[in-house]
Parts: sequence; C-alpha cells; structure tokens
Amino acid sequence: MPLLSLAPMEGLTGHTFRRIHAECFGALDRYYTPFLTPPRVGSSFGKRDCGEVDPANNQGLDVVPQLLTKNADEFVWAAELLAKMGYREVNLNVGCPSGTVVGKGRGAGFLRDLDALDAFLSEVCDRSPLPASVKTRIGIARDEEYEAILEMYCRHPLAELIVHPRVRKDFYRGKPRWESYGETLRRASFPVAYNGDIFTCDDMDALLAAYPETRHVMLGRGLLYNPALARMLHGGPALTLDELKRFHDKLFCAYEGQMGGNAVFRMKEWWSYAQHAFDDPQTVHRAVRKVRTIPDYQAAIAKIFS
Ligand SMILES: Cc1cc2nc3c(=O)[nH]c(=O)nc-3n(C[C@H](O)[C@H](O)[C@H](O)COP(=O)(O)O)c2cc1C
Repeated sequence: MPLLSLAPMEGLTGHTFRRIHAECFGALDRYYTPFLTPPRVGSSFGKRDCGEVDPANNQGLDVVPQLLTKNADEFVWAAELLAKMGYREVNLNVGCPSGTVVGKGRGAGFLRDLDALDAFLSEVCDRSPLPASVKTRIGIARDEEYEAILEMYCRHPLAELIVHPRVRKDFYRGKPRWESYGETLRRASFPVAYNGDIFTCDDMDALLAAYPETRHVMLGRGLLYNPALARMLHGGPALTLDELKRFHDKLFCAYEGQMGGNAVFRMKEWWSYAQHAFDDPQTVHRAVRKVRTIPDYQAAIAKIFS
C-alpha cells in the first residue's frame, strides 16, 4: 500500500479531528494542515493558526503545515517559524478554487501567472529552511494548461508534488484526470503524490492497477465519508456503527469544549460527509439540517444512532 495521508480540509481536518481520528482508527502516515496564512515577516502566526501548528496539538503525528500565499518572503518567514517548532516540510497550496482566494492570485489563482509562480518557487526553494512541497491543480479552465505548468514545476527541486488532477473551474466535480497524474509520474524527478476521489478500496485498486509506481495517496472526502477507509485499504475491517458513534461523541465533546454551542455547526459540516456512512444519507441529513442548539443536536444524534 502506498503511504496514506489526510488531505488539508478547511473546517474539517484540523488538529482536533486529526488527533481524535488517530485515537479511534489509528494514525495515517502523514497529515496536512488546512491552509494557514503566513504572518507578516517579523510577526507570529494568528491565534487560530497557532493552535493548528502547536506541537502539543500534533503529538505523535507526522504533520506538514500548508501555507496559502504568493509572497515568497512571507513563505520563507513562516517556514523559519515552523522549522523552530520542529516541522520538517512545508506545503504550498496551489489548488484552492474559492473565488476570493483565486481573485487575489493565490491558491489555484497562482496558476494564472506561471512566471510569478516560477519566480516564487525559485526563491522559496533557495531560501526556505524547510523543504517545500506543492499541492496543485492542473490548470484554471482547461486540461491542456498542465503541459506548461508541469514543465515549470519540473524546473524546481520540490520535496514533493501532490497532484489533484482537476482544473479550478471543476471545483470538486467531474472525473479527476488520471493521465495528468501519470504524466507527472513519468516526467518529474521529485516524489509525486495522487489526490482525488479515492472513496473505496476498489477506487484504490483501480489507481494502483493503472499506476503501480504510486507511492503516496492523499485521502480527503473518502476518509470523511468513511473514517475507517485507511484501515480498510490496509485490509482491515469495515466501519461499525458503534465505532462511528464513539468517534462522533469524542469529536463533538472536543469541539464543544473549544467553541461551546458553535460545535453544532462544526458537527453539521462533518455530518454533510459522514452521512454517507449510512445506507440512507438523506434521513441523516434531514435529522441534523435544521438543528441549531446543543439539546436539539443531541436529540437528533440519539435518533440517528438508534
Ligand atoms: C471543505 C473543503 C475544504 C478544503 N480545504 C483545503 C485546504 O485548506 N487546502 C487544500 O490544499 N485543499 C483543500 N481542500 C481540497 C482537498 O484537500 C482535496 O484536494 C479535495 O477534497 C479532493 O480530494 P478528495 O476527492 O480525496 O476529497 C478542501 C476541500 C474541501 C471539500
């Protein structure tokens, strides 16, 4: 089995989720933080991002912090802070499709200006105290854009290139273009990872049959739909309802301790994925959809698990 990592997912796979998931289902080989905004040079990370990278919150897990920026000085500064905390790699987000991010030329928006991304990577690879990896899409609007993008990446000594083979316009819809991943495997001299639509053991089998040289697969929604996915990929047993309940209860309890009543909204976001662990996701969706308060949430959950 290739190395398995957990995808960065804003609002979903933060440090609390990582810790509790590892406690309940065993640790994955690696984790990526949801994107962090690098502080201005000379300043510290903001409060929320500090918690995300605080080594005390990530004990025993191999965590790679991800940065969202187009400013090389700020990337290098953030990498210096992270190196002091003991991190060994830092990842650049070149995939976020959100309008506000892309509009500022960050995330997938960086792919609009390949010369700027090229110059950014030259500086970062030269000056960052930590090796830099990149998580990328294959373009903004058309698959053909990837030819020039890949050529540009291949000029840099990246720690790794994680390919989510969709264009920005797709957001998370449509079929990932495996050929672009395959082309990256063929041409890159640095390690390459695959990310996108691995939901079941069959999906992984198909990927490995097509690309047996695959050495790292990043799991995102698949692991949120089914928190036992990584264990199952290793040949372990399927998810049980009791396990899901235990995982849910720990997650809710931790979020409630951190954010009080807002834990309900955090959990509703999680349920929008976890509902797929049930035969009838619609019933689960309806049970939690209108809930706003902790007592109503607890009543809905009791119904779901009964
Ligand atoms: C709600 C949500 C939040 C995400 N946040 C991030 C993020 O912070 N950084 C990032 O690189 N990708 C982010 N992604 C993309 C995922 O990391 C991943 O690339 C995507 O879900 C496709 O993989 P999957 O099919 O395994 O889910 C996010 C995706 C979703 C749906």
